[in-house]
Formats: sequence, structure tokens, C-alpha cells
Amino acid sequence: MHVQIDHPCVQHKLALIRDIETGHKRFRELATEITQFLCYEALKHIKTKEVDVQTPLAIAKCHKIDTDIVVVPILRAGVGMLEGILELVPTARVGFVGLYRDEETKQPVSYYERFPPQVDGGTCILIDPMLATGGSTAAAIDVLKKAGAGKIVVICIVTCEEGLSLVEEAHPDVPIYTASIDEKLDENKYIVPGLGDAGDRLFGTSH
Ligand code: PRP
Ligand code: URA
Repeated sequence: MHVQIDHPCVQHKLALIRDIETGHKRFRELATEITQFLCYEALKHIKTKEVDVQTPLAIAKCHKIDTDIVVVPILRAGVGMLEGILELVPTARVGFVGLYRDEETKQPVSYYERFPPQVDGGTCILIDPMLATGGSTAAAIDVLKKAGAGKIVVICIVTCEEGLSLVEEAHPDVPIYTASIDEKLDENKYIVPGLGDAGDRLFGTSH
């Protein structure tokens, strides 16, 4: 299952983040802002419990989140989405999956994993701005499932049909939330029109 968030506020920010003229400071801010909108939607069905809250006037029946949330950025570009999620869910814990795409084969190469114990049985929000071929996301989900994740939700800023199909075939139980399903992948397996190399643009590596 995947959901594209068409809200005008998200689409406006997407137009700005795609722009080649957007520098790394603004790119980071926009990644945070877009991520918050996507996360808001992705957590719509999260488990809550009813609690009684004493207001100055009476007791109100309220709801609080009732599950351990572990945010897992895929290094490196996923880190650019972390702040946005933590602003929304400040008590979330953070794990990391280190993967990079081999330049020749375009296959993900794993180099790091570190999770809090709450990943076992908890709700994991896997974040990476780009879901291109889908190889990195599918590999990260494999790792999270092996670590015992109870529920996994993927949030990416931009994706394409090819990547979505690969992840959904491998992991039909994992919903994917995105701001855009772009046209295609190019010969280098970059998303077109996409937004370029997200890691380089976030961290100012290339300019
Ligand atoms: C990018 C991106 C994803 C991956 C997407 O990372 O952030 O992790 O590529 O491609 P895929 O869907 O085809 O696997 P990259 O390998 O460039 O590493 P970086 O974040 O360290 O720059
Ligand atoms: N990684 C990126 O940063 N951008 C793409 O379009 C594909 C992979």
C-alpha cells in the first residue's frame, strides 16, 4: 500500500526542494517541513490509549500514543528527515541503518546497523528521501524485520513506480508514504525529474 500526499502545502514545498537553485540550508529546512507533513499522515492509525486528563473544569477523555516508536534513517540522506520526525514525536527512539548504492551495480551495500531494544515489537518509521530502485528500502526493511520490528512504515519524499513495485512485492505489509511518485528512473537509476542526489544536496557535498 502506498499513499501520495497531494496536499497543496506539501506540493508547494516539493516544488521548492526540487529547484536546482535551492541551496543546502534551505534544502534541509524543506526536507524537515515536508517530512513532518508526511509523518503526520503516516501515523494516522497508530495505536493510542484512552487517558483521563483533569482540565481546570472537568475530566476530559483524551488519547495518547501507546506504542514504542523507533525512527530509523537510512544513512546518510535519511538523517535529513530525522529532525522533522523528532519534532512531531519527541519521545521516539532512533536506530540507524547504513547503506550505500554501489556505483556500478546500483545494489545496496550494508555498512552499519544500530537499534534501541524497543525496535523488537515496536513501530518503526523508516526514513529516506529517495526510494529509487527500492533496493535500499527493501534491504533496510529486511534488517528491521530480522530485529523483530512489530510494524514498519516507510516515509520518503520522492519515489517512482519501479521502486514502489519492488518494495511492495518484497514487503506487502509495509505502507509507504510519499510526496511524489515521479515519472521514471534514468540510466544511472536516478529518479526523474526527482531532486538530484539528496545526500549531496542535504549536506552540501557537491557545491
Ligand atoms: C541514496 C538514497 C537512498 C538510495 C536510493 O543513497 O538516499 O538510500 O540512494 O536508491 P535505491 O532505491 O535505488 O536503493 P546513496 O546510496 O546515494 O547514499 P548516501 O545517502 O550516503 O548519499
Ligand atoms: N539517490 C538519490 O539521492 N537520488 C536519486 O534520484 C536516486 C538515488
